[in-house]
Amino acid sequence: MGNVSCDIAFNDLRFTIQSGKETLQLLQGVSGCCRSGRLTAILGPSGSSKTTLLKFLAGCISGGRQEGTVLINGTAARDTCFKSRLALVWQSDILLPTATVREAILTSALLRLPGTMSRAQKEHRVDQILAELDLTHVKDHLIGQDIDGTMSGISGGERRRVSVGISLVTDALAIFLDEPTTGLDSESAEQLMQLLSRLANNRGKTVVCTIHQPSSDICSLFDDAMLLSGGQMLYNGTWEAAETYMAVAGYGRPLQRSLAEHFLWLAKDRGMAVPNLARLHTLSWRVHSALEEANCLGMENAHILQEIIIEEQQAPKKAKRSAEMASPASVLHVPDMASDTWSSRASSRPSDESSSSSAAPALWEGASDRSGKSESGVKGAGYLQQTCILCARFARSWMRSPVSLAMQALQYMVAAALMGAMYYRLPNDVTAGVYNRVASLWFVGMVVVFMSGNSALTIAYTQKPLLRREVYAGHYSYLPYYVAKTVTTLPLQVAYTTLYVCMTYFLVGYQPVAANFFFYSAIIFLLILISETLGMLCSGAFRAELTGAIVLQALYVPLLMFVGFFQTSTPPCFEWIKRISYATYGYSALVKNEFQGLGLQPGDDGFDVPDAETLIPANIQTTLSLAANAGVLIAILIGLRTILYIQMRLTIATKAL
Ligand SMILES: Nc1ncnc2c1ncn2[C@@H]1O[C@H](COP(=O)(O)OP(=O)(O)O)[C@@H](O)[C@H]1O
Ligand SMILES: [Mg+2]
Repeated sequence: MGNVSCDIAFNDLRFTIQSGKETLQLLQGVSGCCRSGRLTAILGPSGSSKTTLLKFLAGCISGGRQEGTVLINGTAARDTCFKSRLALVWQSDILLPTATVREAILTSALLRLPGTMSRAQKEHRVDQILAELDLTHVKDHLIGQDIDGTMSGISGGERRRVSVGISLVTDALAIFLDEPTTGLDSESAEQLMQLLSRLANNRGKTVVCTIHQPSSDICSLFDDAMLLSGGQMLYNGTWEAAETYMAVAGYGRPLQRSLAEHFLWLAKDRGMAVPNLARLHTLSWRVHSALEEANCLGMENAHILQEIIIEEQQAPKKAKRSAEMASPASVLHVPDMASDTWSSRASSRPSDESSSSSAAPALWEGASDRSGKSESGVKGAGYLQQTCILCARFARSWMRSPVSLAMQALQYMVAAALMGAMYYRLPNDVTAGVYNRVASLWFVGMVVVFMSGNSALTIAYTQKPLLRREVYAGHYSYLPYYVAKTVTTLPLQVAYTTLYVCMTYFLVGYQPVAANFFFYSAIIFLLILISETLGMLCSGAFRAELTGAIVLQALYVPLLMFVGFFQTSTPPCFEWIKRISYATYGYSALVKNEFQGLGLQPGDDGFDVPDAETLIPANIQTTLSLAANAGVLIAILIGLRTILYIQMRLTIATKAL
């Protein structure tokens, strides 16, 4: 393992998106290659499409119109085979704050490494990675969170290395990193780049990273470089040859400027620099591909072209000696990869494919046998195993967040205590006894609707980024996550419900009958579950938390307004809202449950009340029995949960990150 090389060549990549009425061509026919065993830096000013190219190469781009060819080891590769062997480390680290460094990498290993490996082997690999990334000394530290720029946990550099570790755990052949040094101090940045260089040079990995303004120490680690400007490739070749290339092309570097600075200076569209260099690069690539095609087809004159290319390849060295005399054409840098990247003589000629427009997966066709199929085709944990691993992670996460658990419990306790204080020991007469019962039950029900819906919304927004990234990267599917979250939150929901119902029921003093108490608890529990589902639905429907929260609050108004408590009869035009509102059925059931069999005392006038149920305001009653009301709530819960699953399933892994 780890011996398989992964040379990536790409030809004429174009990526076009529609932004309003404008069509933006983010990649304008870029060609080049990333070689195994080498660290390739993608340089360019901000907005030059570095990230776009990186995502395209990693097969992680979505939306837009994608054209061109990406070849791995000479053959277009299908994403199903290669997705697990290419790893993308995003610019921002999204990690579970409640996990330790080792747990984070181990969870990734357990989820993604093949079942044929034993747990001990997986743990051994994790320990190896920890050592390799110099994380052993912090392996049992909690990752923690970056709150307002203050880190409560491991440092920024360590977080970045954990992200790299998570990507590496499946022994990825190629690793793509988006601005890995951003946000790190110069020492951490250099350490990380040294690590990446070691991964490439010692472990034979293809390491590609975008980088904005590298220091000269970091530059010395680069093996190859790509220079982008406005979606065009200006140079792709070895880092050493870059300076000569530029000089011969007529853009020599002034002494006071470092090469990286000079690169960026040129790429910022200095006069004719960008068009000239882009044209030169395209030309050199065409010469190179022409030779490869000639070889592919066994053309008679292949040897002639071969000679030309050899000359071209040697040119930079000669040019170094006599840069002023050489013409640009003689130093066209041809990537020294003929023997690898294009060598399989793929039936798909780059020039044939380059014009075909297709979605990303179609660009990744037909994995070659050299692709290390032995591991790429192997599946990680099955659904059941994924569910168990995620259950354990959720459980750990809850247990390590005692403050958040305590705060949630506290909010239910405070609400119940206030309710208890306000309606303490309800009287049993026909006036206050009836009115206060009806009013207190509205509060009891509606408080849990608000609180549980809002909490679920906030929690869902907190969990969403990690969920999306992990599902997108193929760590697990949404179904095991959904099941694990449902199963692990159930004990918490039961605990909160128990706390709340016990306090409210006995403080307010509803009927001291066991059956009534349990029915009351069940209805409150259902209201909590439905409200949480509603909160999660809003979090899934809207990207921004603020929008989701506003929509949820807006939904509460009609749902709670027309339950029948606030008016003697519902206006006919709002009757449908009353009918679809789960609060209607919950509230009606709570009231009916309390009034059934309630022994009210006669009022001052001595009027006897035979049946308390007849005193329930007509507008609060549904025509349904207690069991039927509960049944409707269960049906609504199942319906909303199904919608939630479908909604998340459709959106979670498909939207661009
Ligand atoms: N989805 C998008 N919608 C609109 N513009 C986009 C989108 N993605 C990228 N861009 C634009 O494309 C350009 C290149 O983006 P990017 O690849 O992130 O650049 P870089 O990483 O070099 O800074 C930027 O100007 C960016 O604003
Ligand atoms: Mg970027």
